[in-house]
Amino acid sequence: MKVLSGIQPSGQLHIGNYFGMMKPMISLMENSDLYVFIVDLHAMTSVHDREKLRRGTLEAAADFLALGLDPQKCTFWVQSDVPEVCELTWVLSTLAPMGLLERCHSYKDKVAKGIAASHGLFSYPVLMAADILLYQADKVPVGKDQKQHLEVARDLAQKFNTEFGETFVVPEPAIAEETAVVPGLDGQKMSKSYNNTIPIFLEGKQLKKRVMAIETDTTPVDDPKDPVKCNLFNMFKLFAPPQRVAEVHDLYVNGGAAYGYIKLELVDILNDFFAEARRRKSEYLDDSEMLRKILTDGAVKAREKAVVTLDLVRDRVGLKY
Ligand code: ADP
Ligand code: TRP
Repeated sequence: MKVLSGIQPSGQLHIGNYFGMMKPMISLMENSDLYVFIVDLHAMTSVHDREKLRRGTLEAAADFLALGLDPQKCTFWVQSDVPEVCELTWVLSTLAPMGLLERCHSYKDKVAKGIAASHGLFSYPVLMAADILLYQADKVPVGKDQKQHLEVARDLAQKFNTEFGETFVVPEPAIAEETAVVPGLDGQKMSKSYNNTIPIFLEGKQLKKRVMAIETDTTPVDDPKDPVKCNLFNMFKLFAPPQRVAEVHDLYVNGGAAYGYIKLELVDILNDFFAEARRRKSEYLDDSEMLRKILTDGAVKAREKAVVTLDLVRDRVGLKY
């Protein structure tokens, strides 16, 4: 079973990315043919700053490795190191109905958030479809917000197969319902573009500041509260041991949950949770030559697969004359 997913290096990776995508991917390493990549071409739809993109790409790679991804047990690379994806994007874009892309809410949401309405942003789902189809992925683990993009990829695969003959695997989304959407500090989806994140590797005062900024209501400590509606509790339960989650749950329901104390406890839990990974991340960043070598070796592996699919596509559509 080929499992594939990518992440944008457009800002510091956060705990929403961790639970929604990174952790599920890493856990699949042992039992599947796993493809993981850093989608720098996608990040260009919002990042036009050379240093930020370069740094973001290396950091995202270091994040994955530090969190336990083993490049020997998967294919791990940077999207733009396999240029075949751009050619496939073009071929797919000639099949992509305007209406299908116009219906994608991610484009409208991003424009509403102030990202420039470029052609690249509009055709983002086509590049994403090319990412998936180029490697003939069977399953694509993503957060709920990417479901529509997966539908575009499936539509384009089916359309191509119908018009030109069986070529692509039609990919299935894999959405972990349990942690489908990790809330941000303000209770909206945690997202780099909403400035409401807790970056995975934040520490010290900065981490404390972020956690203390989690929005809560003004219910007095002794009054009962609904844990399900509480942003802080929803974050707490992702990290605390089950027994502690149950205790804090009782405090919410019966009264006695003090937000300030729970936040301080969460700071400690977060610090411990990522301590080991934090140490490994700085080792990777200190040796960026080694990091680059891991990525370029990964791109060689990825490209071997990509050229086979692209060659078939070229043949099917008449680009091989
Ligand atoms: P962001 O919204 O911060 O820019 P991306 O769109 O780059 O994040 O998402 C990268 C991956 O992480 C995707 O698979 C996405 O679905 C997942 N993801 C992002 N934010 C969350 C969240 N708050 N909860 C769960 N998964 C998330
Ligand atoms: N659009 C995805 C996101 O923002 C990232 C992405 C790009 C991706 N290409 C992909 C995810 C291919 C899965 C498969 O999260």
